[in-house]
Amino acid sequence: MSHGASPSPLSAHSAKALTGTIRVPGDKSISHRSLMFGALAVGRTTVRDLLESEDVLATADAMRAVGAKIEKHADGSYTVDGVGLGSLLEPDRVIDFGNAGTGVRLTMGIFGTHDIAATFVGDASLSGRPMGRVLDPLRQMGTNVVARDGDRLPASVRGAKDPVPLTYRVPMPSAQVKSAVLLAGLNCPGETTVIEPIPTRDHTEKMLAGFGAEISVTLNEAGERVIKLQGQPELKPQNIDVPADPSSAAFPIVAALIVPGSDVTIENVMLNEHRTGLITTLIEMGGNIELMNKRSAGGEEVADIRVRASQLKGITVPAKRAPSMIDEYPVLAVAAAFAEGDTFMPGLDELRVKESDRLAAVARGLEANGIPCVETEDTLTVTGGANNIGGGTVITHLDHRIAMSFLVLGMAAHKPVTVDDGAVIATSFPTFKSLFSGLGADFSKNGSAAA
Ligand code: S3P
Repeated sequence: MSHGASPSPLSAHSAKALTGTIRVPGDKSISHRSLMFGALAVGRTTVRDLLESEDVLATADAMRAVGAKIEKHADGSYTVDGVGLGSLLEPDRVIDFGNAGTGVRLTMGIFGTHDIAATFVGDASLSGRPMGRVLDPLRQMGTNVVARDGDRLPASVRGAKDPVPLTYRVPMPSAQVKSAVLLAGLNCPGETTVIEPIPTRDHTEKMLAGFGAEISVTLNEAGERVIKLQGQPELKPQNIDVPADPSSAAFPIVAALIVPGSDVTIENVMLNEHRTGLITTLIEMGGNIELMNKRSAGGEEVADIRVRASQLKGITVPAKRAPSMIDEYPVLAVAAAFAEGDTFMPGLDELRVKESDRLAAVARGLEANGIPCVETEDTLTVTGGANNIGGGTVITHLDHRIAMSFLVLGMAAHKPVTVDDGAVIATSFPTFKSLFSGLGADFSKNGSAAA
């Protein structure tokens, strides 16, 4: 699970046209939560189309370490036999979350109000990321924490024996922080309140309600979301069908727009309103994107998305849209490289604390491939339409989305684009290469002959 020791470079060459119909893997946010909430329920939860990526499998291991039984069946589904809220066992091993920020932060929330001790480690990327944003509210709920300087991993958590519920205003737009506090609130007596000034993905709220928790969401006078959770519910097992991940669909969507002659359909993609900022933006840029066969599946709206190659134009992306497309900026920057004029992306401060400093990683990757861009502390401007782009090697910094975004660039650039480590893609989208090869993409390892 730890990458970086022997990186595996991968190149993408310009493709003729991408055509076909594909299904990208299950949503990462919902997959993590299915395993966690299944572990906290009493009885058997069934999960179909779970994302089988390294991040999600790390969460499965963490839930096994506290007593949940998680099994894969012949039909590809998973079952989770929960231990029940309040009954988690103390892990007898260190919990290694690899690259998974969502996994570790939400699990810290769960463990933080259980009377158990646990030690968390991660890869070099995760060990550099700030954990104080979840550890601070947990400390207020009674959790004891010993962490490396700056609240980084490795960190040990001794959960509160008598946890106290909290009213917490989330200081940055982060679904992980909101979720960690709510999950800690599950095992507190009384009511936990989270105030969310800027709305973020709401999978935790929706799924906890589905598992039988008493949770309400209202707007206060200032228009902020106020989420109230009654502690110590009995969570009931669920049958979950995980819809396809819009953040993974983003790569074939952008690739189909920028590779001339392309026509690609991606099936069953989740359209949760907190996740569709990229689609809105690409349509504003002139992208030919059709949402077909809209329907409801597992409490979420889904659609088949047909994308045809389009001449894009540069726009200003509203800063307030950022939380609904926070993981999609790297691939949007690649789309912008093919648009007419400038694309201006403000409000990107949270990109600095993702799997890498994504703002810097994107800017360096664009520059390495001859694409003009300007990076400030929290904005990026990309100028589209440069000639003779590509030919560069992009440093991924253990960041799966940097790797995939720049491989998409290579599919439409004049010269091949190489990423220094293609193995990191397994974090979220292990079938990336095979699905894209099926559409007509041309990859090779280390710039050698196409595979
Ligand atoms: C996620 C929340 C987001 C997102 C991440 C998944 C989640 O992180 O970037 O990929 O499932 O809650 P932040 O909460 O840091 O914005």
